[in-house]
Amino acid sequence: MDKPLQIAIDGPVGSGKSDISGRLAKELGLTYLYTGAMYRALAWICVREGVSFKDVPNVFPLLSKYSINLRPPAKDGSLGFAVWVGDTDVTDKLFTPAMSQGSSDVSTIPEVRKFMVARQQELVRGKSVVMEGRDIGLRVLPNAQLKIYLTASLEERARRRWEQYKTKDPTKTLVQEIEETKIRDTQDTSRAADPLQKLPDAWELNTTDMTQDAVVSAIIAELGRRKLI
Ligand code: DC
Repeated sequence: MDKPLQIAIDGPVGSGKSDISGRLAKELGLTYLYTGAMYRALAWICVREGVSFKDVPNVFPLLSKYSINLRPPAKDGSLGFAVWVGDTDVTDKLFTPAMSQGSSDVSTIPEVRKFMVARQQELVRGKSVVMEGRDIGLRVLPNAQLKIYLTASLEERARRRWEQYKTKDPTKTLVQEIEETKIRDTQDTSRAADPLQKLPDAWELNTTDMTQDAVVSAIIAELGRRKLI
């Protein structure tokens, strides 16, 4: 059997990872795995249990109390999968500013990261996948055939998020979104455990002035250049 094709996509918030990974996976017929969903699910569990995101000794044990699963969506969701905590579908609850900040907070805890990495590796073992997050090329798929570092300017990334969430929170201004993005960037890139970084063997793609179609085409062209497809 051919070796499975594994593509690792890392990058900061708003760089387009989710949309691009989903589309790429669909186009190439690969499984798509969005690892941020698992950190978001843990943030949701913290709120449910009344545990502060930064309460290190009490956050990690929650992972053995609850199971986090990614499943095909019940309705045709744009994410392409649903996130379940135990027997509750929490997908609709995960994309709020509180869950964004909370997931970034819990992801700084080394034991949490170790657990998530092992779980994610187990989910894709032997499968052809497009997997996205912050430490995919570094930890989850260190042998991925293509590692992509997707990025865009701070203003453009914040603008994309603001457009995406503006119906949910019409009071938020673009300036506030830029500030929040900056805070998560700082936390994600400066944490002690596996901070987000561009790896020496990653191919960097700056999507600031690119449409999603152009980004997907550029990645497919790169895969072709490397004779991976
Ligand atoms: O991809 P996202 O923005 O939904 O991820 C939410 C948070 O989870 C992000 O701020 C950092 C963390 N995360 C991580 O540390 N490692 C991953 N592989 C994925 C997400």
